[in-house]
Amino acid sequence: FGMMSYDPAFTNTASCSSKITFIDGDAGILRYRGYPIEQLAEGASFLEVVYLLMNGELPQKKALDTFAHEIVMHTMVHENIRELMDGFRYDAHPMGMLISTVSALSTFYPEAKKIEDAENRRLQMVRMIAKIPTLAAYAYRHRRGLPVVYPDNDLSYAGNFLNMMFKMTETKYKPNPAVENALDVLFTLHADHEQNCSANAMRGVGSSKVDPYSALAAACAALYGPLHGGANEEVIHMLHKIGSKSKVPEFIESVKKGEGRLMGFGHRVYKNYDPRAKVIKRLADEVFDAIGKNPLIDIAVELERIALEDEYFVKRKLYPNVDFYSGLIYQAMGLPMDMYPVLFAIGRTPGWLAQWEEMLLDSEQKIARPRQVYLGYDQRDFVAIDKR
Ligand code: CMC
Repeated sequence: FGMMSYDPAFTNTASCSSKITFIDGDAGILRYRGYPIEQLAEGASFLEVVYLLMNGELPQKKALDTFAHEIVMHTMVHENIRELMDGFRYDAHPMGMLISTVSALSTFYPEAKKIEDAENRRLQMVRMIAKIPTLAAYAYRHRRGLPVVYPDNDLSYAGNFLNMMFKMTETKYKPNPAVENALDVLFTLHADHEQNCSANAMRGVGSSKVDPYSALAAACAALYGPLHGGANEEVIHMLHKIGSKSKVPEFIESVKKGEGRLMGFGHRVYKNYDPRAKVIKRLADEVFDAIGKNPLIDIAVELERIALEDEYFVKRKLYPNVDFYSGLIYQAMGLPMDMYPVLFAIGRTPGWLAQWEEMLLDSEQKIARPRQVYLGYDQRDFVAIDKR
C-alpha cells in the first residue's frame, strides 16, 4: 500500500488529540477532565458534569446556577417541531423521530451556521442540551398517542424529563426522588466516552463545518445502530429468554459453544470491569428499593457471578459493560425498550458537543478525509450498451 497505512475501522489510529475524556481499558478507569467517573456519579449533578465537559473546569455555585438557568430558558421547542412529530406514523421508532427533529432544528436556527463565532456556538450548544429531552419526550408521547407535556422549568433536568414523559393529570407532577437521582446519574455515566462511533461521526460530519444540529443528528444516527446504543435492549431480550436463575448455567454453556453472545459483556477498550457498570449495579439496588424490584435482576446477577468465575470469560477478559444493568433500571422505571437508545443520546449530547467544539478550535484539524486502498479494476475501455 505504499507509504499509506491501512487500518480498517481505525482500531489503531488516533484521529485527534483531546483533553476531555481519558480511558484506561486494562485498569477499568474512566475520567472526564481528570475526574474519576465514580466521584462525579456520586457527587456531581448532570448539569455540573455538562459544564465540566464544555468548559474544562467544575463550576462555582454561582456559575452553575447561571448555566442551569440558561438551559431552562431553552427547553421549549417551536410548535412546528411538535407538528412535524405528529406527521410520523403511530409506531415510528423514537430514535428515528429524534434524529429527524434534531436535524430539523437547524432550519429554525440558521445563524447556527456561524460556527466561528464563540458566543453563537455556545448559544447553540445550550439550546441542544436543553431541547433534546423535550424532543425525546415528545417522541415517546407520540408513540403512546398522548398529548405532549410542555417543559416545567421548576424541575431539575432529569425531573423535567420525567414530567414530560409521565405526567398524566392536571395536578403538578412530582418525580420519585430515587428515580430522578438515578436518571441524573445515568446521564452522567453516558456523558462522554472519547472516540466511539458516534463521537467520531460528530467530529467527521462537523469537520465539514456544517451547523451543529446537522452534525448532532449524524451522531444520533450512529448511536441508533445495534452495535452501539442498542445493546442494553438486547440484554433484556436475553434475560427474558433465559427465563429463570436455574437456566443460567445452561445458557452460559450455549454461549461458550458459540451459539450466541452474552449481551452486555465484553468491550473493545475495557479488558476489566467497566467502571460505569459498577456504579449502575449499585444504582439498580437503590431504584428497586424505591419503586420495586425488576425480577430479571436475579438472573443478571447469577449470570455475572457464573461468567466471572468461568475460564472462557476470564481468559478473554470479558466483564459486564455499561449496558448490562442499565436496561434493568430503565425497564423498572416503566420505559419501553425503544426509548433506551434515546436516553443514551440525551446523556451523550454534551460529550458530542464538547468534542465538536474542541475539534473546531484545534488548529491541527481539517476536514476528515481518510484515504483508501483501491482493489478494483485497472483501466478498461467503455463498451456501448448494444455491444455488451
Ligand atoms: N459473549 C461471548 N463471547 C464474547 C463476547 C460476549 N459478549 N464478547 C467477545 N467474546 C469473545 C469472542 O467470541 C472472541 O472469542 P475468540 O477469541 O475465541 O474468537 C473474543 O471474546 C474477542 O471478541 P471480539 O469480538 O474480537 O471483541 P471486540 O472487541 O471486537 O468486541 C464487543 C467488543 C463489545 C462488540 C463484544 O464484546 C460484544 O459483542 N459484546 C456483546 C454486545 C455488547 O454488550 N455491546 C455493548 C458494548 S459497550 C456500549 C456501547 O458501545 O454502546
